[in-house]
Amino acid sequence: MMSVLRKIGATDIEVTPVAMGCWPITGITSVDVTRDASLQTLQAAFDSGINFFDTAYSYGYEGESERMIAEVLGAHRDEIVIASKCGLSWNSKREKVHDARPEVIRRHCDESLQRLNTDRIDLYYLHAPDPETPVEDSAEVFKELLDSGKIRAVGVSNFHTVELFERFRSVCPIATAQPHYNMLQREIEDSILPWCVTNQVSVIPYWPLMKGFLAGKLSRDHSWDPKDGRQKYEVFQGREWDKTHDFLDELRPLAETAGISLAQLTIAWTIQRPGITSALCGAKRPEQIQETAQAMEIQLPAATIKAIDEAIVRRGPVISRPAVT
Ligand SMILES: NC(=O)c1ccc[n+]([C@@H]2O[C@H](COP(=O)([O-])OP(=O)(O)OC[C@H]3O[C@@H](n4cnc5c(N)ncnc54)[C@H](OP(=O)(O)O)[C@@H]3O)[C@@H](O)[C@H]2O)c1
Repeated sequence: MMSVLRKIGATDIEVTPVAMGCWPITGITSVDVTRDASLQTLQAAFDSGINFFDTAYSYGYEGESERMIAEVLGAHRDEIVIASKCGLSWNSKREKVHDARPEVIRRHCDESLQRLNTDRIDLYYLHAPDPETPVEDSAEVFKELLDSGKIRAVGVSNFHTVELFERFRSVCPIATAQPHYNMLQREIEDSILPWCVTNQVSVIPYWPLMKGFLAGKLSRDHSWDPKDGRQKYEVFQGREWDKTHDFLDELRPLAETAGISLAQLTIAWTIQRPGITSALCGAKRPEQIQETAQAMEIQLPAATIKAIDEAIVRRGPVISRPAVT
């Protein structure tokens, strides 16, 4: 598959416009995840032409996501771009711990390098700002890691104000931002996205499929597995659930006319948005990432985009509550 690579920030790192999101393969919030299917999904992402793999220190209670990337893609290390994140981890009770003190970031980086079995992480994110640690202190250690060559570029995730970006950037250059973003959750368009475009910061959003909803395969009468983490979000409940199904019913004929699936329409729309460099597409089965990867080859005509945008306005934005994973 041929897709045009896109540069991130002011770096010389080039990525495919669809990235493989390596959270679902840990099975922490997704159901029916098996190690075999996860390994096959990583292989399928690479075989589908994806060169960009997004993981984190906290993806898996024991770093399973990073370890699986090393296992499947180790032989292709120079052909892929690995993004990882630090500052979030799990305690012995499997509760999330938020700690971005300099000594923790240094330790997370060294452990991730080991798990990934590599000498550098191409793109290293602060997973989320730590309320207890001044963001400048976290930024300082990112600059140190950059200068040492352990990481090649720096990203920030879950930064919800321009001020936070400015404060981090006063200490360390930022190449990418990782917020949530999709057809129905577009808060970043108010100030974050314009700031990133102006400052040559690539925006690489998570939840482009709104955790699978916008792939259109969850039926209206879907019965939830109790372990499926999605049902806690308002968008998967009550009126919000119905409104999004009505919205998907409007998109279906557009996808059909274009001869593509809803997931492909959704991802193609996302990566054609100005300022969006690559969409982080999560998957837990090979066929899922094979399907979304094809969106890299799709150029939606202006009339289709207009029709999608009109349907988005009729649907209205969903209640949005970002979660950090
Ligand atoms: N920085 C952060 O705080 C943060 C937060 C969240 C995510 N992320 C990153 O962003 C990535 C994407 O987020 P995400 O994985 O949570 O959500 P997502 O990409 O919006 O949705 C992924 C889910 O959609 C379903 N899916 C994917 N492809 C499909 C297809 N072709 N057909 C039908 N269903 C399909 C699968 O769920 P089912 O099969 O279970 O339906 C899959 O687990 C993550 O993997 C991670 O790398 C980062």
